[in-house]
Amino acid sequence: MIRSRLDPASEEHQRRRASMLAKLAELDAEHARAVGGGGERYVERHRARGKLLARDRVELLIDADSPFLELSPLAAWGSDFPVGASMVSGIGVIEGVECVITANDPTVRGGASNPWTLKKSLRAADIALRNRLPYVNLVESGGADLPTQKEIFIPGGQIFRDLTRLSAAGVPTVALVFGNSTAGGAYVPGMSDYVVMVRERAKVFLGGPPLVKMATGEESDDESLGGAEMHAKVSGLADHLAEDEYDALRIGRSIVRSLNWRKRGAVPLPAREPIYPADELLGIVPEDLKVPFDPREVIARVADGSEFEEFKPAYGVSLVTGWARIHGYPVGVLANAQGVLFSEESQKATQFIQLANQSRTPLVFLQNTTGYMVGKDYEQGGIIKHGAMMINAVSNSTVPHLTIVMGASYGAGNYGMCGRAYDPRFLFSWPSAKSAVMGPAQLAGVLSIVSRASALAKGQVYDEEADAAMRAMVEAQIETESLAFFLSGRLYDDGVIDPRDTRTVLGMCLSAINSAPVPEPAGFGVFRP
Ligand code: COA
Repeated sequence: MIRSRLDPASEEHQRRRASMLAKLAELDAEHARAVGGGGERYVERHRARGKLLARDRVELLIDADSPFLELSPLAAWGSDFPVGASMVSGIGVIEGVECVITANDPTVRGGASNPWTLKKSLRAADIALRNRLPYVNLVESGGADLPTQKEIFIPGGQIFRDLTRLSAAGVPTVALVFGNSTAGGAYVPGMSDYVVMVRERAKVFLGGPPLVKMATGEESDDESLGGAEMHAKVSGLADHLAEDEYDALRIGRSIVRSLNWRKRGAVPLPAREPIYPADELLGIVPEDLKVPFDPREVIARVADGSEFEEFKPAYGVSLVTGWARIHGYPVGVLANAQGVLFSEESQKATQFIQLANQSRTPLVFLQNTTGYMVGKDYEQGGIIKHGAMMINAVSNSTVPHLTIVMGASYGAGNYGMCGRAYDPRFLFSWPSAKSAVMGPAQLAGVLSIVSRASALAKGQVYDEEADAAMRAMVEAQIETESLAFFLSGRLYDDGVIDPRDTRTVLGMCLSAINSAPVPEPAGFGVFRP
């Protein structure tokens, strides 16, 4: 059992806690914007039409009082589009079956898909496929956001491709159509295994009456072109005609019940709560990420019984590795301790990842790294080779990976510690997280050194005043672009979470992962570096 050295009464803990709570208040405000959808006027109009909001639909679809792990609620943050990207996406339990659920938010520009909605939608399908989770779409969308069609139209074809590939892989797809689903959008029900349409509400056609008039001269109306009743009785595109939205959700639940879905992964052992309270996670991360913190304090508040069997504790001490359980699921944990990764840490990580693959144990990466060590001694000692070895192990490891960005995630440390490009099954950030190619001050400093050398080479006098202004501007820009909200807005993670929820979120992810069979191991025996 980990013996915590944290003193929650200390002034330092209280300061860190206050700083984290301030960031969480900002996070709440951003989440409230996503929940607010298109704003009061559009929400009222939607309700006045007798329709349920996207989140109400999700809530009625999932089992009563069951949790919903919402994904990417900050999508589009920092862009010209409303936070949330006009779509709700997440993992919820329907009739005891964990499913990926997406719901268009018709209060935001008619539910039209902008470039961030597209990313969110593709990510949802990817999660469904890799974790073998039935995929349920609650459809009501104005199709592509027309002014940004150039960003959406061509890559957007993947939405429909993914639907049929999911089906081909044996993952069921369900479309509940509540309203508009026209043009390209018509292929969402078109490509789904099961289709439910709401009477007098669903409109599914390749072209609406005005377009048909323009194309062929034919006079038509919404109902005969793409109404729910027509599709249920004439075209056969709808398998079920729902009387109203509640009926559609009821039918959706019964479709999932009839899938007779069985999870194929590992079954968890009985779970035990950690000894130390999750609330203390608020006071661990320093306000200044240059100050290191002991990740064992985090593990002690996330792992079952606060138990952690550390591997190679005396070797490569800047990276903590070891075995634990979370909600009864065995995991291997890799956590940065003092920020920098040296050759020893890289070799230790490589060996540990191979051991986890040998025992088919999922890995949890707790990131707080400033990257691999630079400098003559380290280069001569082969830091590139050793970092490459770790990145190789992470890339080719076949057990599921989960990543939490707790603090810094700079340079190739982001890669070695299983950043987004290394395909962790899920990646969440704490509000304290910062990711970039390097720290803002270092980046501005490097730019300044390069500019100065370039000026000297041309025989020019270097403008010190302009240099200072450039540094300040670049530092501010990189700082903004390193922050968790900004990166979450671009879907470089699956959401920013409250540190206190880390154990719950990881538990839900581990359960979701085990809907799929445990993957086959990759080739070799364990190399002892
Ligand atoms: N792209 C960009 N903006 C869109 C949009 C789209 N595809 N669809 C709707 N919007 C905007 C509207 O211009 C409107 O903006 P405003 O309130 O600032 O004026 C807002 O979203 C709400 O649309 P509105 O038409 O008032 O909502 P509605 O609920 O009455 O109707 C639709 C919704 C989707 C039926 C209707 O907007 C529509 O037919 N849109 C175009 C559908 C289409 O042909 N899409 C192309 C498919 S590829």
